[in-house]
Amino acid sequence: MFTNFPLWPERASSTAGNVDALFIFLLIVSGMMTLLIFTAIVYFAARYRHRKGVLAEQIEGSTPLEITWSIIPLGVFMVIFAWGAVVYFNGRTPPRDSTEVYVVAKQWMWKLEHSEGQREINELHVPVGRDVKLIMTSQDVIHSFFVPAFRIKQDVLPGRYTVAWFKAIKPGTYHLFCAEYCGTQHSGMIGSIVVMEPAQYEAWMSGGSTGPLSATGEKIFAELGCATCHRSDTQGRGPSLQGVFGRPVLLQDGRTVTADENYIRESILDPGAKVVNGFKPVMPTFQGLVSEEQVNALVAYVKSMAQPGPAGPKTAMAAPSAAPGKQ
Ligand code: CUA
Repeated sequence: MFTNFPLWPERASSTAGNVDALFIFLLIVSGMMTLLIFTAIVYFAARYRHRKGVLAEQIEGSTPLEITWSIIPLGVFMVIFAWGAVVYFNGRTPPRDSTEVYVVAKQWMWKLEHSEGQREINELHVPVGRDVKLIMTSQDVIHSFFVPAFRIKQDVLPGRYTVAWFKAIKPGTYHLFCAEYCGTQHSGMIGSIVVMEPAQYEAWMSGGSTGPLSATGEKIFAELGCATCHRSDTQGRGPSLQGVFGRPVLLQDGRTVTADENYIRESILDPGAKVVNGFKPVMPTFQGLVSEEQVNALVAYVKSMAQPGPAGPKTAMAAPSAAPGKQ
């Protein structure tokens, strides 16, 4: 009956069921409250209607009644709060060892790049059953990455990274929408997520790569002359980037920040914003000199320097070229 009129989009990610369960719970609670209130209105309107010769009598409050109607909703709301918080934090926290995909939104298309180097436009191929972390930015206005079947929606902002993640549980092709009005062709800013069986995905991955993203980043790093200051022997004018990713960094002003994707990005585009303790703010900005894709590649390269040794498939590929020859 509902095939041509589905009330819910397909549930194709590991979190979709949880989001729906919470939503259905909210729907039931709201429905019950609505029913209760309407029944009470109709009943009281009839029961206490105006009658000739009958005077209304004043009733003082009832403490037990007031406590009851305060405690019960409080309990219900706390359930919603706790349940919602669990679903929210799960949705906000990409599992470790997620496969990373960089997303650049622009008017009016989605540009996606796998950390293994495959690039796609308005289409993202992923294997079923693997955690995928999306590291997203926009090169113009605010967009929003929305995949109804995965129950994920995340704003994509210019000038910073935002993150979303999903684990697809069903092979198939799913809609990708832009869910933030971004200009004339906003409604045309659509694409698809293609979820494939692992073997099929491996076959797809084997074609069309220009090498891992971190290797592209290493090339850009060399071309821009970053290595002259960011030497791995700590003798350079800039801090060594070896192993910095994911670690706390002490700044000149005494603050400590974590070297995450946004920190690396900011340090490339606005180097004066957070200067590492013991260094001078001598680095020029690369704002306007590097594209969003190049910033992503540089971030991927700095990340690859953080994990010496064969920590994973992508780092294993990047690590041998990352360490030596950087003086
Ligand atoms: Cu991009 Cu709407």
